[in-house]
Amino acid sequence: MNLIEQIKEATSYIQSKTSTVPEVGIILGSGLGNLADDLTNAVEIPYEDIPHFSKSAAIGHANKLVIGELNGKTVAAMKGRYHYYEGYTLGQVTFPVRVMKALGIQTVIITNACGAVNTSFNPGELMLINDHINLVGSNPLIGENENELGPRFPDLSEVYSGRLRSIAKKVAEEQGTKVNEGVYSWWSGPAYETPAEIRMIRTLGGDAVGMSTVPEATVATHAGMEVLGISCLTNMACGILDEPLSHDDVIVVAGKANQAFTSLVKGILKEL
Ligand code: 6GU
Repeated sequence: MNLIEQIKEATSYIQSKTSTVPEVGIILGSGLGNLADDLTNAVEIPYEDIPHFSKSAAIGHANKLVIGELNGKTVAAMKGRYHYYEGYTLGQVTFPVRVMKALGIQTVIITNACGAVNTSFNPGELMLINDHINLVGSNPLIGENENELGPRFPDLSEVYSGRLRSIAKKVAEEQGTKVNEGVYSWWSGPAYETPAEIRMIRTLGGDAVGMSTVPEATVATHAGMEVLGISCLTNMACGILDEPLSHDDVIVVAGKANQAFTSLVKGILKEL
């Protein structure tokens, strides 16, 4: 079965579970999944039930699609995502974005927990992604192009919408939440970077580093969707502080930033 047919099957299945037509897609990063619990009139669909969604995903994620309403908008929220480091292909990682588009979604908010490379940032702060650097050496669009889904050579001059970033900055200011802005670099993981790699990333112009988001944002752009990227800076990247990195700390700090993050996303939804 080709990709287009797989997208259609997944989309039909989801539509059979809810009459809500989602306007906004949200991909929730590690420790940020709580937002999905705030949806009203919600329908929860485990990924494992959706045709062509891959089985199981990272620890610390619930792995379900939650469709409902949030602050006046209809939303499809992914509680848990597929990571490249788990062994999924980039096609598997980005399949849900294709399905979001087929459900009618034009705007996608992609979030993550990541490390701060810019030394003027602090753990627990948020960062609006204004561009990215793909350091992984692969791309989710490699392979035959389906012209129905997007162009062979998509332009990436504005992956992260300036319009959505302006809205996010205005809402953050009103809420008294500090938001940084910067370049997200994508590292495959699962090992964190070395101190030398972090110096390299800083030299290349990266402000933050993480193991997600870039594949989904690339596919969303290919599909003509407007993307807002929000990172939760859970820790300073390796070598900046004299302490080792632990995934448990990442989850704890993401949890602490959760409230500011949730309020920000809700405020943004209202303005869309
Ligand atoms: Cl320091 N690096 C990467 N690649 N991902 C992270 C991170 C660092 N901190 C949280 N996620």
